[in-house]
Amino acid sequence: MSETHQHDATTTKRPAGNLRYVCYGNDKESPYLPAIKQLISKDLSEPYSIYVYRYFLYQWSDLCFMTLDEQDNLIGVIVCKLEPHRGGPMRGYIAMLATQQEYRGQGIATKLVRMAVDAMIAKDADEIALETEIDNIPSLRIYERLGFIRTKRLHRYYLNGNTAYRLILYLKPGIPYKPTYPPDYPHMEGDDAQNPAQGLLGEDLIQRQAAQLQIEEVHGQRHDLLQASG
Ligand SMILES: CC(C)(COP(=O)(O)OP(=O)(O)OC[C@H]1O[C@@H](n2cnc3c(N)ncnc32)[C@H](O)[C@@H]1OP(=O)(O)O)[C@@H](O)C(=O)NCCC(=O)NCCS
Repeated sequence: MSETHQHDATTTKRPAGNLRYVCYGNDKESPYLPAIKQLISKDLSEPYSIYVYRYFLYQWSDLCFMTLDEQDNLIGVIVCKLEPHRGGPMRGYIAMLATQQEYRGQGIATKLVRMAVDAMIAKDADEIALETEIDNIPSLRIYERLGFIRTKRLHRYYLNGNTAYRLILYLKPGIPYKPTYPPDYPHMEGDDAQNPAQGLLGEDLIQRQAAQLQIEEVHGQRHDLLQASG
């Protein structure tokens, strides 16, 4: 998600004490939909149409979690989906994440991400992916602390020209090697095919090996995640 994320030091902080965390539920046109759109749009440089929200919420309402205050105001939200990725791994995808500015820095987004990750694990996800701008430090902190790793730098990924990282949390051993069709990375032809340690394929191999090295740690983290959100 591309976002504007200036830190406003003058924002009055609100305590996160009496907040509730709930699943979006089964209502297609939930009373929270306008508030979700408003909260996400506030920080987006390229706002999504209502159809984008409906695309996610009609199909994966059980993978959307909200933080509400005592008056049922929306304080935070995470929107996700889960489906096979190119005939390969079952991939969860975190499409949107935002918290109200006055409540930031109190662990609300971290808790929402944990709840979404747990829900996707319960549905047998193999991996969870997302994109975030390369200078979105709060976002990178949240995801990398939970075990997500940077697998790709996506140059000028967003409409506003900003570059993104793709982050992936691998949930099961061997998942980075699972073939996809069409493949994520094309096979090299000609001379490069003689030396798979060079060029695009070489980078791909290195990324996958690096990912594999971290699997054990991430796999352990998975169990921490399940316990931590209880
Ligand atoms: C990113 C966002 C969801 C984080 O929400 P949050 O409720 O503040 O998140 P948390 O409190 O769980 O954690 C934020 C982490 O970033 C750190 N952080 C917050 N603001 C920061 C800043 N301006 N500079 C550096 N670090 C910052 C926090 O200290 C915390 O890390 P820590 O626990 O290691 O200290 C929120 O800033 C937001 O809505 N931003 C706009 C939308 C967006 O960028 N969404 C993510 C796109 S994928």
